[in-house]
Amino acid sequence: MRTLQDLDARGKRVLVRVDYNVPLKDGAVQDETRILESLPTLRHLLDQGASLVLLSHLGRPKGPDPKYSLAPVAEALARHLSGVRFVPHAPGSEEAFRAVEALGPGEVALLENVRFEPGEEKNDPDLAARYARLGEVFVLDAFGSAHRAHASVVGVARLLPSFAGFLMEREVRALARLLRDPERPYAVVLGGAKVSDKIGVIENLLPRIDRLLIGGAMAFTFLKALGGEVGKSLVEEDRLELAKDLLRRAEALGVRVYLPQDVVAAERIEAGVETRVFPADAIPIPYMGLDIGPKTQAAFAEALAGVRTVFWNGPMGVFEVPPFDQGTLAVGRAIAALEGVYSVVGGGDSVAAVNRLGLKERFTHVSTGGGASLEYLEKGTLPGVEVLE
Ligand code: 3PG
Repeated sequence: MRTLQDLDARGKRVLVRVDYNVPLKDGAVQDETRILESLPTLRHLLDQGASLVLLSHLGRPKGPDPKYSLAPVAEALARHLSGVRFVPHAPGSEEAFRAVEALGPGEVALLENVRFEPGEEKNDPDLAARYARLGEVFVLDAFGSAHRAHASVVGVARLLPSFAGFLMEREVRALARLLRDPERPYAVVLGGAKVSDKIGVIENLLPRIDRLLIGGAMAFTFLKALGGEVGKSLVEEDRLELAKDLLRRAEALGVRVYLPQDVVAAERIEAGVETRVFPADAIPIPYMGLDIGPKTQAAFAEALAGVRTVFWNGPMGVFEVPPFDQGTLAVGRAIAALEGVYSVVGGGDSVAAVNRLGLKERFTHVSTGGGASLEYLEKGTLPGVEVLE
């Protein structure tokens, strides 16, 4: 990838695609991680005397919708960087173009949500051409969106001299090590609701790893495929055969698979609801498994002991509803306790768990991309990486 080392940004107007798809609550940014992670790139360019035009998406709006405005993000960014202003126009519009034309060195304009443009997700060439007028060069630092072949990621990169930002570079380097010559033993911990979201990554990683730990609701599809009684737990009925096949393949490759032994269950998903612990393969109706149980927490910690490489993506339970957050926190603690390990974590809930524990420094790399990191590990590249190569 061409990187910022290859770019002389002096006096240039630089168009930067960032990923400011951050959680908002009551009009305020709840988690600034993605904003903070973009700062090294922005400061580097500003120090060179560039002016910056920033593009990002926020959420999944169907056209212009004030609920998805980037205005609160501009406010948050302005607390960390001087010279920031918000341009409340669709980023492909003539108004947006006029607003950035007059930018001087050291000034930063964050344009409105790219997903307010109907052509964004279709990678409309006409929209990409309008974006390309906004800067003289393009820097892609939106690692979290690099799996989206959209106009502000891939389309515009084809039209301007394009470079990877520092975050993009760091993310790709960290993830590439999980595919190329990882130190063994190598464990992968996967959670989240669905097996179907993780098939590609499991298939690509199975030949490279030694241990696969599966938690979250996706475990119930495996447990049921093995003949377990999982009560009212979430199961992807149409993936039972696939789950069996993945287990067979793991066995053939000598990968040890760890499924939950016990679960914390309840009759409904509700904070403070009465919970019971059952064996993971004997959950009576009307209960559903909502988190891994204490035995599983211990077994997972034991399975991780001694590994040299670990990748973790996805919560072990319904992380946003306590007490079903405990299993995810336990896995975070178990990985953080490992010494001399190359550890990478990606995905909203897993990263939130690491942050809540205050253990970020104990991980080699905390990815800002959930879907993007999974797709990179599945395919070894991303549309946003390819376009910079
Ligand atoms: C993310 O949060 O994973 C990225 O910002 C991509 O968002 P998207 O899945 O809506 O494209």
